[in-house]
Amino acid sequence: MAGTGSKQITAGQGNGLPRHIAIIMDGNGRWAQKRGLPRTAGHAAGAETFRRIASYCRDLGVEYLTVYAFSTENWKRSAEEVSAIMGLLKKYLEEAIRKMRRENVRIRVLGDLTPLSPELRELIARVEAIDETLETHTQANLCVNYGGRDEIVHAVRAWQADPCHGELTEEELSRYLYTAGMPDPDLVIRPSGEERISNFLLWQSAYAEFYFTDTLWPDFTEKDMDAAIAAYRSRDRRYGGVKK
Ligand code: FPP
Repeated sequence: MAGTGSKQITAGQGNGLPRHIAIIMDGNGRWAQKRGLPRTAGHAAGAETFRRIASYCRDLGVEYLTVYAFSTENWKRSAEEVSAIMGLLKKYLEEAIRKMRRENVRIRVLGDLTPLSPELRELIARVEAIDETLETHTQANLCVNYGGRDEIVHAVRAWQADPCHGELTEEELSRYLYTAGMPDPDLVIRPSGEERISNFLLWQSAYAEFYFTDTLWPDFTEKDMDAAIAAYRSRDRRYGGVKK
């Protein structure tokens, strides 16, 4: 494997299955608009797609699936849309409490959760308490009120406030990110034709492979995931090194 210099970089399995896949679930609004539906219907369809794709990733043996559910910038949307997305998250977490053992996917919520409703925060705590007891190889991370820059500032502050902190290195700072202890994403997927990072996993995706598709997120299927993984497998990951 290339990039032997740094322990900080978590290598994927070369041309194998990505250990960690991250997705910007984009295109829900356009999907709804095309059908003459309110944007919130697009998010509901997007949440369904997430359920399906998370199960598929579990079946494939992917270890981490991280999705961008609500960014630090999404508060700028209408109160109706914000409340619809929060409602979908609530519904999903309530369902997870009932079905987690059957689904066998561990769930974590990453982001600054302080502005979320006490009800949602309590649900998150309950889900995360159950997942401690699950024996599963798959973890789904829902990024909520998440911003990559915000995460880095939060990590620096947490490092500074920690009386036991070590010398400031890349590895040390990684311990204070929301993704502490997880491998970096190998593959970042953005559907809907947009080709930008939008403040998602800025630190962690330093060496990720990117896959873009015009498919809108609610239309994203297992076949699209297969195509993304196939593209990933054909890439030559060098981590800034040269091919041996
Ligand atoms: C981006 O599409 C999508 C979002 C900002 C929200 C994504 C949230 C969900 C799919 C629901 C979350 C719930 C669970 C259970 C994961 P967009 O609205 O920006 O689409 P557009 O670019 O077409 O307008």
